[in-house]
Amino acid sequence: MSDYERQYTRVDTVRNILDTMILGIEDPLRQRDAYVHLYGVGQACAMIALKRGHDGNYAELACIAGMLHDFVKYEVAQDVPAHAKKGALRVWPLLQATGEFTEEELTMICTGIANHSDKMRTDDEFSEIIKDGDAMQHWLRNPAEAFFSEKSRNVALREEFGMRER
Ligand SMILES: [Fe+2]
Repeated sequence: MSDYERQYTRVDTVRNILDTMILGIEDPLRQRDAYVHLYGVGQACAMIALKRGHDGNYAELACIAGMLHDFVKYEVAQDVPAHAKKGALRVWPLLQATGEFTEEELTMICTGIANHSDKMRTDDEFSEIIKDGDAMQHWLRNPAEAFFSEKSRNVALREEFGMRER
């Protein structure tokens, strides 16, 4: 067995959906932001889910929700009102059409997307992973910068991951 084994996963399916949207963004800087932020949040969500003791399948769903959490914000415009709720409605049929997700999984993913903007509120465990992944990516893109938003979440994440305080 080689060290490198590539297996098709649902993340690949979602990558196709996401890349189709991102390739439609005309402004190259905004397109770069979309790649960095959406893939970055997907990876942060996967890491947080695994750190919290979940298995790979659960972490895959967290990764997918993270990848898609700002779908409408990038597809339409930065300032779409209620982009989280609209995003959940937009993403549901896209994922459902793939035939690769159960109703329960679609509910988890879309609930996480719908709740992700409410950072001051505590929701279900899955939604909290999406919020924390979003906050973590904002902070990791420039770790030397003082937290510019979501400070309390980032302080809690540092502690959870055993990182020193600033
Ligand atoms: Fe975001």
